[in-house]
Amino acid sequence: MTTKNNNWDYAASVESTAHIKLNKKYALYIDGKWVEPSSKKYFTTHNPHNEERIAEIADANDHDVDLAVKAADRAYKEVWSKISASERGKYIFRIARLMQEHARELAVIESLDSGKPIRESRDIDIPLACNHFFYYAGWADKLEYAFPNQKKEALGVAGQIIPWNFPLLMAAWKIAPALATGNTVVLKPAETTSLTALKLAEIIHASGLPPGVVNIVTGYGHTGAAIVSHPKVAKIAFTGSTAVGKLIQRSIAGTTKKATLELGGKSANIIFDDAPIDQAVEGIINGIFFNQGHVCCAGSRLFVQENVAEKVIRKLKHRMQSLQIGNPLDKNTDIGAINSAEQLSIINKYIKIGIKEGSEFFQSKCVLPKKGYYCAPTLFINVAQSSVLTQEEIFGPVLSIQTFRTVDEVIQKANNSPYGLAAGVWTDKGSKIFNLTSKLKAGVVWANTYNKFDPSSPFGGYKESGYGREGGLHGLAAYLK
Ligand code: NAI
Ligand code: MG
Repeated sequence: MTTKNNNWDYAASVESTAHIKLNKKYALYIDGKWVEPSSKKYFTTHNPHNEERIAEIADANDHDVDLAVKAADRAYKEVWSKISASERGKYIFRIARLMQEHARELAVIESLDSGKPIRESRDIDIPLACNHFFYYAGWADKLEYAFPNQKKEALGVAGQIIPWNFPLLMAAWKIAPALATGNTVVLKPAETTSLTALKLAEIIHASGLPPGVVNIVTGYGHTGAAIVSHPKVAKIAFTGSTAVGKLIQRSIAGTTKKATLELGGKSANIIFDDAPIDQAVEGIINGIFFNQGHVCCAGSRLFVQENVAEKVIRKLKHRMQSLQIGNPLDKNTDIGAINSAEQLSIINKYIKIGIKEGSEFFQSKCVLPKKGYYCAPTLFINVAQSSVLTQEEIFGPVLSIQTFRTVDEVIQKANNSPYGLAAGVWTDKGSKIFNLTSKLKAGVVWANTYNKFDPSSPFGGYKESGYGREGGLHGLAAYLK
């Protein structure tokens, strides 16, 4: 059932779930085996579309994490650091090929568990996740060309903790470069979206990867904290909230552990009056409503040049009315479900604050499904620079709009944020793009596009958006000494 929308109706076209294989219960994947959690505790993962139970997931405690880290350490010393780089590459290729073979199943499970539209998981998340494995497989035996005249060595055991917004893609971003550089892995998916990481464990098992090279442990924050503090973990790779990023920094201070932290964002999407307006409107929609705004680099602050503001906002509102909101498994759906009840309440709290602050408020007039966690695409117009809406990460489909007159003014406003993950610039003039890319304090700047990713291009932030880069050669360097 797709939500009825005022202007546009489509017949539902729901992706079949007949071909997916899910267990009722998932144990921990440690040392090449499925291991019961020592506490015997499991928690439930739900479908955010209808709030139904999907499966029970093991809750790993310190003891389980210790087993996983020790298995990874043993596999590193006895197997993975001893085999040739080209053999390592072959395993990674094999994992990539098996992921491709299971692409449809992975896409459906990702949408069931996370709430993201099937179109995105099918066309973006899963293919990109496969591409990360292919890309890094190719580098495994070419590290001396990647880093000429440097004798690089693996670090050992990498502890990896990922969020719920791109579950399988984040697992791929983390596991593929770690394996290519000769490290072994203990990965913890987010508690609300463990299923595709567990399917990946099945795929890794089928690939014949030696036991202990990749271990998948599920659980809440306490499980992540146990990975971070384990003395045998040489490197932490974390993606998630700035608050937890700070906790991790504190926990590893004074140790030799390396870390890459990909944290929050409040990215500026900047529209000049010479931009192709219709394309820019699509770029704004993609920037903030893509994946329900559950994107660390979401273009959540829109800056429009004053003389085209009226036109851009009018077109934006019109386009928002045609967005289809509803069942993530429906191929027509543009905007799926918010990942969890907790995240929905965070977003609604910000919407209430915005309304109270009194900036102009607009929501697309759609009928939201009665069950499940849904939020209509939302605009706040003429928001003050000091507003909570322009300063804090909302991580939902909520866009705050400001106007500007000059280039210097927009650079100053865009950089006036504790974050610096990404930015977008829309203009006809190449010189304007180059001027802004050198002055915006953001790890990624997109020109006349938004939210585009590629395994070969590095990604990461400035300021409170974290440090270190993932993707490309930079992503390899982060796993070497
Ligand atoms: P979170 O940062 O708590 O969760 C991310 C991962 O860290 C999860 O796997 C979680 O289990 C783990 N974790 C939690 N506490 C930990 C600890 N003390 N030590 C080690 N690992 C720990 O994010 P949460 O609570 O799911 O979302 C809260 C807010 O964070 C969101 O509203 C959003 O603003 C932001 N966020 C940003 C993300 C990004 O990609 N930059 C991703 C997810 C959330
Ligand atoms: Mg948290």
